[in-house]
Amino acid sequence: MTRPLVILPHPLPEDWLSPLKKACQLVIGESPGILLPPKVEAQLPQAEGILSLLTFPVSEEFLAQTPRLKVISNMAVGYDNIDLPACTRRGIPVGNTPSVLTEGTADLTLALLLAAARRLAEASADAKAGRWTAWSPTGWLGADLNGATLGIVGLGKIGTAVARRARAFGLRILHASRTPKPTLETELNARHVSLDELLATSDFVSLHVPLTAQTRGLINAATLRHMKSNAILVNMARGPVVVSDDLVRALREGWISAAALDVTDPEPLPPDHPLYSLPNCLITPHIGSATHHTRRRMAELACENLLAGLRGERLPHCINPEVYR
Ligand code: NAP
Ligand code: GLV
Repeated sequence: MTRPLVILPHPLPEDWLSPLKKACQLVIGESPGILLPPKVEAQLPQAEGILSLLTFPVSEEFLAQTPRLKVISNMAVGYDNIDLPACTRRGIPVGNTPSVLTEGTADLTLALLLAAARRLAEASADAKAGRWTAWSPTGWLGADLNGATLGIVGLGKIGTAVARRARAFGLRILHASRTPKPTLETELNARHVSLDELLATSDFVSLHVPLTAQTRGLINAATLRHMKSNAILVNMARGPVVVSDDLVRALREGWISAAALDVTDPEPLPPDHPLYSLPNCLITPHIGSATHHTRRRMAELACENLLAGLRGERLPHCINPEVYR
């Protein structure tokens, strides 16, 4: 029997792919970017599965080239790279990798929040460059976490894991999500508030919403002006949730104090982007889930979803379950 053909637009470590080796014929691209090499593109009409990264757009155009596709498995929890309605219209189940990356991503959120609050990047660069000439009573002053207010936009899995950690640092928790969560609010001593109230009263604002039509540009000139001037913004969600040009102005003109961004718009952020030139902006290259253990678990889930779809079984983590109705 011929094995189903599966496209990976990008390479992954050999041992992460071992569950697929026996069951499928793998056609592997060259980079995590959006362009497929011609040898991979030529195979699209035969492809029955795709294991995509968040950088690979699964668009109408792509689907038109893959008429035999039975399953799309995204190795990420976010799926804004995928035209979900188009997949659903074609009856193609789409899988993602929730939960396994929650704790690792929450760890990085706290790392960024602490680093921005205590100006770690600036202080470390100054020390290395010889600007640490004496202990200074006024040098590199930052913000306290203890007793401050953290506003979490999107109290889902990652937002909740961030809140649990933040409680240990003495932060008070507010959240703006679509729905109140009474049990969780009691556990976290958190208050559900409007986005306006959250922005106006939080010392730290941490973004954990998916990128959707409703959240694109949620943080813009108007909402940034609504924040406290001492506020620190952390974006762990998706770059386009924040309007980059508006953030540059806000940081330059002191509407807010600092930002820490694991995600940016665009991605990758070009080296000459003005955000890099701002001492009060810390940027990491979308590494929320980048631990050895977490990335391996994500690959495992992505393989499980893919194999289930190829067998015609329900995906363990399906984001368009309506395809089964
Ligand atoms: P999740 O459990 O689905 O949580 C998402 C939360 O966002 C939910 O609480 C949801 O509210 C809320 N939400 C959705 N739309 C909203 C809106 N318009 N206004 C306010 N709240 C809204 O997802 P997760 O696992 O925590 O992941 C969240 C996102 O983080 C992903 O979609 C991805 O984009 C991003 N992410 C980034 C990294 C990274 O490396 N930086 C890593 C992993 C994930 P309800 O509870 O009311 O539904
Ligand atoms: C990472 O950003 C993810 O969505 O998994």
